[in-house]
Amino acid sequence: TRVPPAQNEPILSYAPGAPERAVLQSTLQRMASERLDIPLIIGGKEVRTGKTDEVRMPHKHSHVLATLHEANAGHVEQAIQNALSVKDAWSQMPFQERAAIFLRAAELLATRYRPLLNASTMLGQSKTAHQAEIDAACEAIDFLRFNVAFAEQLLSQQPLSAPQTWNLTDYRPLDGFVFAVAPFNFTSIALNLCTAPALMGNVVLFKPASTAAYSAWFVMELLREAGLPDGVINFLPGDGPTIGNVALTSPHLGGIHFTGSTPTFQGMWRTVGENIQRYKQYPRLVGETGGKDFIFAHASAADDVDALATAIVRGGYEYQGQKCSAASRVYIPESIWPKLKPRLQEFISELRMGDVTDFRNFMGAVIDEKSFKKVSSYIELAKAGGAEASIVAGGDADRSEGWFVKPTLVQLTNPRHRIMQEEIFAPLVGVHVYPDARFEETLRECDQAATYALTGAVFARDRKAIATASRELRHAAGNFYINDKPTGAVVGQQPFGGSRASGTNDKAGSMLNLVRWTSPRTIKETF
Ligand code: ALA
Repeated sequence: TRVPPAQNEPILSYAPGAPERAVLQSTLQRMASERLDIPLIIGGKEVRTGKTDEVRMPHKHSHVLATLHEANAGHVEQAIQNALSVKDAWSQMPFQERAAIFLRAAELLATRYRPLLNASTMLGQSKTAHQAEIDAACEAIDFLRFNVAFAEQLLSQQPLSAPQTWNLTDYRPLDGFVFAVAPFNFTSIALNLCTAPALMGNVVLFKPASTAAYSAWFVMELLREAGLPDGVINFLPGDGPTIGNVALTSPHLGGIHFTGSTPTFQGMWRTVGENIQRYKQYPRLVGETGGKDFIFAHASAADDVDALATAIVRGGYEYQGQKCSAASRVYIPESIWPKLKPRLQEFISELRMGDVTDFRNFMGAVIDEKSFKKVSSYIELAKAGGAEASIVAGGDADRSEGWFVKPTLVQLTNPRHRIMQEEIFAPLVGVHVYPDARFEETLRECDQAATYALTGAVFARDRKAIATASRELRHAAGNFYINDKPTGAVVGQQPFGGSRASGTNDKAGSMLNLVRWTSPRTIKETF
């Protein structure tokens, strides 16, 4: 087979007067005026469980967007049975037929579903139109198209055959089902967590984040409309431990495709370890977890202080600092700081924050009360820090209408301050200013300060400094950027993932990820 070559979906601007802007605005209005009822989907059937939760807008928490039905243990059992019952038909379907469903989904998402996915991501997860567009539209479409192209390349990897023999690799799916557990921060990641294993012939139990179940529901609608057969991806919103207990202890667990917090993934890994004798096979454990992503400047970055300030502001505060890739600790040489500090203060003071349906806003609210309280406690810590910590910008939060936290920059004399080490997942960035002569020591400090290793960026013009930073920080980031912000990896261009406490580094949006959803069978026939 030859699949269509994949190309990145162009980003629409939503600028005043652009046709897509009016469509998105009317979709936002309509969706905000309706209250959706979100059921489970098991074997293609909608299941209303009666045990419900409310989905609220982070930037206007009095507004209930949807009623969310929650799965209990019995529903998870039922979903496993349904998934296993369609497994043979799905995995034996020719690859091009499965691929066509996901390519059809990409086209539907590029057109009719684009405003729905964008609007639901804006209202439910408090993304601005641009942040929704690069996630729920472009990155999601890219995952669908590129995974088909990568799968084709993978399937074509075949062994040599000697005379009178024919050797083949049969890329079977995993035995059992895949448990896909999604985060709130990227609609496209939720989509990829379930569609990548499904493309390779697996059946999936999909547990969305409760705070992103609203957009996840539209992902399910999209896949159903594209022709995904019933039971291939089962939608199970609800309480994580309740659902996880059943899914993770099933003998049919074939793998976990996870994006979320480090403690949650470690807990899942532990459960798998404790139950290792139950399973028919060793489950594949694929997880992208936390981050404490850095921007590290060398003195030779002085020729473009604005580029550095822009990277800190965009990398640190876009989507309220809630990207797993967001810059949250920054290392600046003393020679640059006097020029950089006022530029940062100026840029940050210009950032507009508020209701994301007002397209002039650059930031919305953090996802929920728990997140608001967590970041507020770190801001308090900074304020109580005496000589060790000083607030350079921001430092305020307001919970009256939505979970709003001002973009905050804190200077820390101690590079091992908690704000330089712990994942906060909010618009709070720590800066450590170091003596220029201590460049190499500070690189080593950056490497050692956090247990995470997801993304990082170095800013320098001196080639020798770039090479030194690249070497010293070799294991400090799975995605390493030179003279660019550490966010915004593009499918097909920068395969995404990190190591250490940041995950198993099975690069999302690459062939390496798809390999994990196969259990190859080697076949030798002698003639
Ligand atoms: N693609 C997202 C980023 O790199 C995860 O920010």
